Order: sequence, then C-alpha cells, then structure tokens
Amino acid sequence: MRRLPPVLLEDGCPHDLLSLIRTILAACKEISFRVGQGALSGVLGSTLDENIQGETQKKLDVLSNQLLKDILLESGYVKAIASEEEPGTVAGNPDAEYIVAFDPLDGSSNIDINSLVGTIFSVMRAPKDADPADPNIFLQKGDQQVAAGYVLYGPSTMLALTTGQGTRIYTLDKTQGTFLLTQDFAKVPEHTKEFAINTSNQRHWQPAMQNYIADLLAGETGPRGRNFNMRWIAAMVGDVHRVLSRGGLFTYPEDTKNPEKPYKLRLLYEANPMAMLIEQAGGLASTGYERIMDIEPEQIHQRVAVILGSKEEVEACLSYHK
Ligand code: F6P
Ligand code: MN
Repeated sequence: MRRLPPVLLEDGCPHDLLSLIRTILAACKEISFRVGQGALSGVLGSTLDENIQGETQKKLDVLSNQLLKDILLESGYVKAIASEEEPGTVAGNPDAEYIVAFDPLDGSSNIDINSLVGTIFSVMRAPKDADPADPNIFLQKGDQQVAAGYVLYGPSTMLALTTGQGTRIYTLDKTQGTFLLTQDFAKVPEHTKEFAINTSNQRHWQPAMQNYIADLLAGETGPRGRNFNMRWIAAMVGDVHRVLSRGGLFTYPEDTKNPEKPYKLRLLYEANPMAMLIEQAGGLASTGYERIMDIEPEQIHQRVAVILGSKEEVEACLSYHK
C-alpha cells in the first residue's frame, strides 16, 4: 500500500504555531467545501455592501471572513486579527503570542465563473504586553513573519506553507479532510519565459514597466532575443501558484489609472505572505525599488507595487527600474 506523506511537516516549528496553522486550515477546509458546492451552497453573487477598500463584497468573501475570524478568535491562539474584509483589526486573547493578517478569499471576481480563488495568510508574533486592540501591532516588516501561506481552491485544494525553512506544498485529501505533503521544498525555476500582468492597464504604467514589457513582447527580434508567453488568472493566489510550480514573473505594478490608488495589492495580507513563500522557494519579490519584506508598514490596508517570481527575470525587470 502507498505510504501517505506526512501531514504538515514543519521541523522545529513551535507547537503552538503549528496549532494556530491547523486552526487556519480548519476554516480553509470549510471554505473549500463551500466554494466547491458553488451554486448549490447559495453563496454565489454579491452582497449589497462594500468593504473598507471600496470593493463590492461577494457573499463568499463575507462567509470566508466570518469562518476565519470566528475560528481564530475562539481558538485563543491569536492576540488580534486583520482582514481585507474588516475595517480595523479585531482583538482576541490578550495573552496570545501571535497575530494573523489574511485575505479570506483572494480573486473573488472569479467566484461566479467557477475559476481559481484562495485564502492568503500571514502570521507574526504579537509584541509582548501590547494592547490587543492596538492596530499598530500589525505594522511589522514582512521579514518578521513567522509563517505565511495560501490555500488555493482549484480542481484540487492546495496549501503552500512556509515557516521560514523553505516552502512546502500540500494537497487536501478530501476523503480524509487532511492536507498531505505533495511537494517538499518547492523551488521557483530561476529562468523563465512566462510573465503575468494585466496589460489592459498598459497606458497607465510608469516608463520602467512600459519598457520592460515592450521588450518581452518584442520576442526574439527584440533586445531579449527570445519569445515570452503570457498568463493572467486575475487571482494573485492562482498566478503565484503557477509561478511557484513552473516559474514566471508576476507583477501588479504602479499605475496612474486612479491617482488616489497607485497600487492594487495589499502589503500585509497579499504582498508580504506571497513574498515570503516565493523567497523561501528561491525567488525574488520587490516593488521595483525595494525588497517587499523590507518595507516598514504604515497602515494595515496599505497597498504596494509587486514584482515577484523567478530570480533571473525579476532581476531583469528591476534593471529597468534603476
Ligand atoms: O486581490 C486583488 C486581486 O483580485 C488579485 O488577486 C489579482 O491579482 C488582482 O486583484 C486582479 O486585478 P485586475 O482585476 O485588475 O486584473
Ligand atoms: Mn486579494
């Protein structure tokens, strides 16, 4: 009989951190089930509300947020949580060691078309003796994350997880309800011929990104001397999973489409956890001008430009920003 691979193999990871991760995964299994039920679960479509980001909330955004929020706050493992769908942070157990920032359902415009969505999470240490109601406890650099991951709800439900000793990929065995290790030490190939960007914003990009993408599109007759392929899933979690699996460059750069919103992706619960997963797998994650995990956050919902993926290609893109 096939020996099943180990469940959550995170060597040296403190027991309480592992329990916290298992708690997050319990909510994700429930979200996976609801996403999988689709129209049958009665949760497709939008609510009448907008979140703090001014985006219309989908019913599944609200449900996923509630599931994660309830389970985390009841678990006693978290001092506070921050979520894309919550205007402020929410206080938990004052004696807990950790705080969690999450995007409950990334790529939610994909819900109604039965395409990829996922949950992204970032775990940091709670500063000792800090007030659980103080949102400033979340203003930590990405380098201070103790764990980061995403759960991708696709044809199979997959977990990418790092606790700072490499990035591992697990697949949810839906017959048992457990995440089983399916790829130890994921490695982003250094070299790639694939990129991901929403080119409908092309006229709004800064010159550095305009020039970089123009050179990729020029293919073998251009300065790069080879052809590139393009993919865009419109769910960061899906695009980053492809980059982790077979390499590539993913970017949501600065643009001038809406002068009040030059960046799209959120630092604390999108860019930082993805940057940690990618760096732990040998890739790079930058804004174009600085390493993402070096940024000192100023606000919990702060947005940032993101360029991440295969080392050589991110370096090529950064050379246009010098
Ligand atoms: O969370 C924001 C997000 O949905 C990402 O998951 C995704 O990469 C991006 O926005 C898609 O943006 P757009 O709709 O502009 O292509
Ligand atoms: Mn998102």
